[in-house]
Amino acid sequence: MKAVVLAGGYGTRLRPLTCTRPKMLFPIANMPLLDWTLKKLAKNKVTKTILAVNYMTDVFIKHYGEKAYGMQIAYSRDLDPDHKTLAGFQKLGTGGSIKKAEKLIGHEEPFLVLNGDILTNINYAEFMKKHETSGATAAIALHEVEDPSRYGVVELTNEDRIVQFVEKPALDEAPSNLINAGIYAFNPKIFDYIPEGRQVSIEHEIFPKFAEEGKLRGYTFQGYWTDIGKPSDYLKANRLLLDMEIKKGKLGKNAALESETEIQKPCIIGENVTIKSKSKIGPYAAIGDNVIIGKGALIENSIIFPHTVISDFTSIKGTIIGEASMIGSSVTIESGCIIGDHAMIRDNVTLTQGVSVCPSKEVKESVLTPKCLM
Ligand code: GDD
Ligand code: MG
Repeated sequence: MKAVVLAGGYGTRLRPLTCTRPKMLFPIANMPLLDWTLKKLAKNKVTKTILAVNYMTDVFIKHYGEKAYGMQIAYSRDLDPDHKTLAGFQKLGTGGSIKKAEKLIGHEEPFLVLNGDILTNINYAEFMKKHETSGATAAIALHEVEDPSRYGVVELTNEDRIVQFVEKPALDEAPSNLINAGIYAFNPKIFDYIPEGRQVSIEHEIFPKFAEEGKLRGYTFQGYWTDIGKPSDYLKANRLLLDMEIKKGKLGKNAALESETEIQKPCIIGENVTIKSKSKIGPYAAIGDNVIIGKGALIENSIIFPHTVISDFTSIKGTIIGEASMIGSSVTIESGCIIGDHAMIRDNVTLTQGVSVCPSKEVKESVLTPKCLM
């Protein structure tokens, strides 16, 4: 079975961290988001995955090459590297990028398509089997949420037929609480319905029409599901994976924890991490490889990317800190902050809730109103 992972979005809501890496490569419980997905696809009988890329394509190619988890990896670029005209600079959207991958997918058998920014333990093979039995052109995996307004929302009949699909409806106009989980099963016939060579949103242009014409099935599934759009979703996804996949906590190779260090589970600590005495880490902290944490520090509900240094008596809550950053001593970082790669936060600085710091920025004074420091 082949799968396509849509991985070409810009991740604008996660800037400034997406200024230096694509969202799909953000670590979640210390493993890139896309690795969680690829690992599960490989377990579900997928033999070839096509990454539909656009933004930072070369970073993906460098990271995965041509093989991952025993699967063949191919790349379909929205924008061909030898583009000659400005018109080619447009990204293709969710539908256009599937159409672009047509040759790599082929017409032999039904295939899977996934939004790259979701985390789930759905059984892909089972979902595909239901689709194949139905004989429909397309099927969507559905998940129930409290507030469907941020998603594609469906009206489903008892026979698993989607009769209405609305992308991001106003709350009072949502036909149900069942949302598009960003997981699709398609027959190759789908290619006949997607126009070539231009931007196409599958959610706006194709699914609503398919629903009206009775070509769309929907299947709910048991298990966890979340997507990653904004920073709070990212922290939530990290908590979810720590709860569901890491559970008892994990300590990487050569991690050195000094005396009286308190680790509150669930928590993950990467390889070669040093934590000095009397620091309290967790619950819900993911500490990347080669991070150094000073004494008496406190880190909870946060993600610390690799190679960062956090000095003595610093407190970090509900925050994401990029790679190779330097956080001084007695610093307080309140929830909802994002610190870009290679940033430097000087001693005794307080960053209030919702401050973001651009890559390589040096912050010498406290910031007590939410803003982006460039
Ligand atoms: N190659 C490529 N080109 N990929 C793209 C493009 C593009 O132009 N635009 C978006 N993508 C990828 C993104 O990287 C992401 O993995 C996926 O397509 C979905 O795009 P998002 O921008 O994340 O959409 P969304 O989160 O607002 O909504 C989508 O996901 C929801 C579930 O998380 C929709 O599919 C909703 O209907 C759905 O409920
Ligand atoms: Mg999304």
